[in-house]
Amino acid sequence: MFKYKLEKYIPIEKVEDFYILEDTNCKKYLLYTKGNINYCLDIKENGYIPKSGLMFAEIIEKNIKDKNVLDLGTGQLGILAIHSRMYGANNVDAVDIDDECIIWLNKIVTDNCIEKVNVLKSDFFDNLDCKKKYDVILSNPPQMPMISGKMHDSGGVDGRKYINLILKKADNF
Ligand SMILES: C[S@@+](CC[C@H](N)C(=O)[O-])C[C@H]1O[C@@H](n2cnc3c(N)ncnc32)[C@H](O)[C@@H]1O
Repeated sequence: MFKYKLEKYIPIEKVEDFYILEDTNCKKYLLYTKGNINYCLDIKENGYIPKSGLMFAEIIEKNIKDKNVLDLGTGQLGILAIHSRMYGANNVDAVDIDDECIIWLNKIVTDNCIEKVNVLKSDFFDNLDCKKKYDVILSNPPQMPMISGKMHDSGGVDGRKYINLILKKADNF
């Protein structure tokens, strides 16, 4: 998994145990290194760099082993989905509505030979098999209080549009 040599990169930001790295061609990477768990993911050119998702990651570490997990709004790097697998989740469905996220995350999963992270296009729960049940449902949905704006950020007037929707429907899964 850990195919990069840290010395070759410039660390440009650190959030918890994650580093955003840049190489000499200004290409960015997300590196996680803690104990014996290390992985490094390619960030798409002009792509999203996860921030709040990185702070969320620590909670996962203690609660995810052997669990079947759903990550709603997984993003281009599928950070919560991949982090869950790295910490021993059994199987993870990583869902996003955005085609760009689906394409890039499929590339990441393939390039890094990450097994049992299934990348699925869905409007939150809409395309999921309603008979499927999960032990843990994760989400860092769009939650900025804005009526319109980017699909990644805008969470409606009070920022709770998707949070409320997820909480309402999660019980079925
Ligand atoms: C704030 S980003 C979080 C990305 C990543 N999970 C993280 O923690 O860094 C929200 C994500 O939700 C996705 N999203 C927005 N609306 C969605 C919807 N209706 N169904 C599924 N995913 C959606 C966006 O495409 C984006 O990738």
